[in-house]
Amino acid sequence: MPPATHRVRVCRLHEFPPGTVRRLNTLPPVAVFNVAGRLYAIDDICSHDYALLSEGHFDGTSLECPVHMSRFDVRNGEPLCLPATEPLRTHRVEVTGDEVAVHIDIGRLL
Ligand code: FES
Repeated sequence: MPPATHRVRVCRLHEFPPGTVRRLNTLPPVAVFNVAGRLYAIDDICSHDYALLSEGHFDGTSLECPVHMSRFDVRNGEPLCLPATEPLRTHRVEVTGDEVAVHIDIGRLL
């Protein structure tokens, strides 16, 4: 059985330049990143403790948590340094013409 997802529109692609992030006030909160023209979506809550990762520093493919400074790879959600040890969930990004949408995995909420 495929995971339960909810499709959420993010923005227009031409309004989402490389090196930027879009935060979705969804449940769960999700952040979408433009890495050199490729788009990635991960949970926006740090896997270590409560922090909105989209408020952290995003550089290249790396995102630094604003609370305890763990870094994550936004392409796969993997932690790159302590104190976080658990990966972030990833979500499928869809681009249709100029529209960007994310299929948020809500399986854990059901
Ligand atoms: S809350 Fe992100 S590293 Fe602790």
